Amino acid sequence: MINGKKIIFSGIQPSGNLTIGNYAGSLKNWVSLQNEYKSLFCIVDMHSITVRQNPAELRRRTYEVFALYLACGINPDVSTIFVQSHVPAHAELAWVLDCYTMFGELSRMTQFKDKSEKNSQNINAGLFTYPVLMAADILLYQADLVPVGEDQKQHLEITRDIAGRFNGIYSETFTVPEPFISKLGGKIMSLSEPDKKMSKSDMGDGSVRILDDRDTIIRKFRRAVTDSGSEIKVEEGKDGINNLIMIYSTFSGKTKDEIEKEFEGRGYGEFKMAVGECVADALEPIKAKFNTYISDKTQLDKLMSSGADQAAYLARKTISKVYRKIGFVQKP
Ligand code: TYM
Repeated sequence: MINGKKIIFSGIQPSGNLTIGNYAGSLKNWVSLQNEYKSLFCIVDMHSITVRQNPAELRRRTYEVFALYLACGINPDVSTIFVQSHVPAHAELAWVLDCYTMFGELSRMTQFKDKSEKNSQNINAGLFTYPVLMAADILLYQADLVPVGEDQKQHLEITRDIAGRFNGIYSETFTVPEPFISKLGGKIMSLSEPDKKMSKSDMGDGSVRILDDRDTIIRKFRRAVTDSGSEIKVEEGKDGINNLIMIYSTFSGKTKDEIEKEFEGRGYGEFKMAVGECVADALEPIKAKFNTYISDKTQLDKLMSSGADQAAYLARKTISKVYRKIGFVQKP
């Protein structure tokens, strides 16, 4: 608890251009939860280097993600926004937690298996211990709630296991966090391969970027892969149309039933166009705000610096407690 409020922690990797999946699965929920909770939103650059990054691009993207958080409506007067590598306690706690995490449990992480397959030339130790750094991010701030997309569920489970194990050995040290995964938008699928998650690293038309221009957004939706049939109806096995209905619902606020009714007797082509326009309309004001924020580097630097100070203060409290419990001598 901070000032009587429960705590939220979440983050996004600056490893690609953020998609509407990132928006629906995380950013949108962060904005609606931030006033009810004390929130910390992180740009997790240390996680990004588990896959090779171009240094100049990583630097540029870190600023872009920061500006996007603001543009989407994260209020820096209410929430703490910061860059992970600015708070050394993340790496410090990760090392401690590494020693309380089992090789076997990390081997079972599906994201590790997927990423190892995709990066077979670079299956580094960081890729393997990635979930421990993520656990450190969350446990450092004693977070109660972690709003994420469905793909992060397993990482939240291991975080809870690590926290529980540590608490079991040393008495209550960490808050055991709960995931917050919204049913709506928790898993947005690719428009070109609707059985796969929409992903930042997909360079093709399957991923819609928050910063894509209007024409690109509409073109991507017009080309979206749909199933055989013509009805606009949620149905088991119709991944393409189910995904489009989910996206439309997320961005329009309409329910599934309202959407099915609205498009009764109308074809896929018309529906795809409507979804594209709705998403493009919703992203327009975000893009405008993004352009304002990204062009004022002095302001971004100021916010980045104060966010890191706020986070570091809270993180230090947990690190001190952990070091004391495990038996490290305090610097005299
Ligand atoms: P990342 O950077 O891959 O994604 C950021 C957030 O977006 C969600 N997301 C999606 N939600 C719905 N549909 C999709 N297609 C989609 N794609 C991504 C993710 O679930 C995530 O919430 N390991 C994390 C970053 C992280 C983190 C943390 C998150 C590091 N430390 C601590 C929470 C707490 C990741 O790679 O997210």
